[in-house]
Amino acid sequence: FKVNWDVKAAEKDGYEHFMMKEMYEEPKVIRDTINPRIKDGELVLDNVTITEEDISKLEKIYIVACGTAYHAGVIGKYIIEKLCRIPVEVDVASEFRYRDPLVSDKNMTIIISQSGETLDTLFALRESKKRGARILSIVNVVGSSIARDSDDVLYTWAGPEIAVASTKAYNTQLTALYMVALELGLKKGTITKEEADAILGQLKQIPNDIEKILENKEDIQKFAHQHYNAKSIFFIGRGLDYALSLEGSLKLKEISYIHSEAYAGGELKHGTIALIEKGTLVVCPMTQDNLFDKMVSNIREVKARGAVVLAITQEKHAEELKKTADTVITIPDVDSLVAPISAVTPLQLFAYYMALEKGCDVDKPRNLAKSVTVE
Ligand code: G6P
Repeated sequence: FKVNWDVKAAEKDGYEHFMMKEMYEEPKVIRDTINPRIKDGELVLDNVTITEEDISKLEKIYIVACGTAYHAGVIGKYIIEKLCRIPVEVDVASEFRYRDPLVSDKNMTIIISQSGETLDTLFALRESKKRGARILSIVNVVGSSIARDSDDVLYTWAGPEIAVASTKAYNTQLTALYMVALELGLKKGTITKEEADAILGQLKQIPNDIEKILENKEDIQKFAHQHYNAKSIFFIGRGLDYALSLEGSLKLKEISYIHSEAYAGGELKHGTIALIEKGTLVVCPMTQDNLFDKMVSNIREVKARGAVVLAITQEKHAEELKKTADTVITIPDVDSLVAPISAVTPLQLFAYYMALEKGCDVDKPRNLAKSVTVE
C-alpha cells in the first residue's frame, strides 16, 4: 500500500508555491495583526509603553530596516509624518549603522524586520540604543534577537514565511505601522479619536479587499503571459505609490530577474524618460487621489514615447484611467491613506506570474537568502 502524499505539497496546502500560499494568507494575517489589538472598539497596543510625555519630547523618529521591511518603512514615514506631525527619517540599516547617525534620547528608532535576525538591522538597533534612542520594533518572529533588544515590540502575526520573497509579512508590517501612527497621533493629540476610529475602520476592511483582488488574479496572469519577455520594467508612482513602486520593483527583480527601477513620477523627466522607448513596460500604482491627475500626465509622457502602461487603481478611477493606460487592474475602492496595504497585492501577483512565465524558481530565487545574518 503506497500513500501518494508529498510532505512538501501538504505544507503548501495544495498551492504550487509557498509564495502564492502566503499571498492567500494575507487577509487572515492582517486580521490577526489588528483584531487582538482592538478592545471594546479601542486601539490597545499592550506592548507599546511609550507615554504622552515621552512622545512630546520626540524631535524625530528614525525608521531602519533592510529590503522589503525598509520599503514598509518608507510608507511608515509618510503615514507617521501625516498623522503625528513628527519628522521621520527612513534609512537602510547597512547605511544607518556606519554613518555616525545623529541619534539621541530625543529620538525613537522604529526597527522593522520579519525574521528579527538580519545582522545589519540588529546592529543598527544597537547603535541607536547606545546613543539613547527608544527602540520600538515591528517584528514577526517572537523572541528573535531584535525583539529581545527592543524597548517595545509590536509583533506582526504573519506566521512563518517560507518563500524568500516577502509578501504577507510586508502587508502586516504596514498594518502595524498604521497602528503605531494612530497610537502616537492619539497620544500626541495630532489626530482625534473620531479620525483614528475612521482609519481603523478602513484598516479592518482591507482583508476583504485583498480577498477580492486574489479572486481576480487571472487578469494579472494574462498580462504577465503577454509581457514576460520584457527586458526592463519601470515602476512609477507618487507619494505612497512611490513607496509602493519601490516594493513592486524589488519583488519583480528578486524572483523574475527582470531589470527594473522605481521612480517618483516627478523625477521621470530628470533622467528615466530617456530610457523609455517603443514597447518599454511601465507599471503605475495610482491610489493617491490628490496625485491622480499628475500621474495621468506622467502616463501621457511615457505613452508618447511608445511605452506600454499597466496601471493599478481603485475601481472608482478605472473607467477614466482606461482612456490613458493600456491595461488597468483594479482594487476595491479604498481611502488613499491606507491603500498601500491592499494595492501591494497586485504587484506581488505581477512579480509571481512574471517569474512563473519565465520558468524561474519562485520560492527560492538565485543568490538570495530568506534571512541575512552575515554582512
Ligand atoms: C532578505 C530577504 C528579504 C527581506 C530582507 C530583510 O533580503 O530576502 O525578503 O526583506 O532580508 O529581512 P528581515 O527579516 O529583516 O525583514
